[in-house]
Amino acid sequence: MIIAIDGPSGAGKSTVAKSVAKKLGFSCLDTGAMYRCIAWCALEEQADLSDGERLGAIAREKEISFGHVEGDPVPRRVFVDGVEVTDAIRTATIDKSVSTVSAHPPVRAALVDQQRRIGNAGDFVIEGRDIGTVVFPNAEVKVFLTASNEERARRRVLQNEQRGVGSVDFDEVLADIVRRDEQDSNRATAPLVAADDAVAIDSTGKTIDDVIEDICERARALRRDAE
Ligand code: DC
Repeated sequence: MIIAIDGPSGAGKSTVAKSVAKKLGFSCLDTGAMYRCIAWCALEEQADLSDGERLGAIAREKEISFGHVEGDPVPRRVFVDGVEVTDAIRTATIDKSVSTVSAHPPVRAALVDQQRRIGNAGDFVIEGRDIGTVVFPNAEVKVFLTASNEERARRRVLQNEQRGVGSVDFDEVLADIVRRDEQDSNRATAPLVAADDAVAIDSTGKTIDDVIEDICERARALRRDAE
């Protein structure tokens, strides 16, 4: 079974996806981390961020993999060609360049290919922007998770504080979120948009546990129906 969780940055997708996966015994895939890896590689190689063909070649050549922290079934570590980039892909510099990198069709084609290969290997919760629309249009459960801009900025600041990486300035984070939404929603290829058959969940003012339980229950109901 595939559970697709799409939505803008800071809506709580990562927390929700990881907890749902843990509760249901599914694997989980953070596709935003994959786009961040390509942005990191491009900056390392000082590639021109407007050169879609070059960035596409990088996305095809680099091997992105995920790893576990001991005792945690959810993968939280990220590697590119064996080099750990878990923290390096969360900096403000990456935040600023990743939307440009992820807008290039050759980059998307390479990563969508990898995402389908990974997801087809078992039961997965996959979070991103285009999972329910492009990557897995036949996903059994599709959720479009949103929250107000201010709520998302507050959560992102808290997350950055906890991780010790990225900006902790509320206004800077809010401006970045608004700018990225705009860029992600208006790009020509696979823009951020809810699938027609996605369940829209606004997490503003809701506890994250309620959202997690709601999604788990949808998956369990499908399992029961299939039995
Ligand atoms: O979820 P995130 O903030 O880590 O994602 C980083 C960027 O990657 C985001 O600005 C949009 C892009 N992205 C995308 O275009 N498609 C996805 N499936 C996931 C992320």
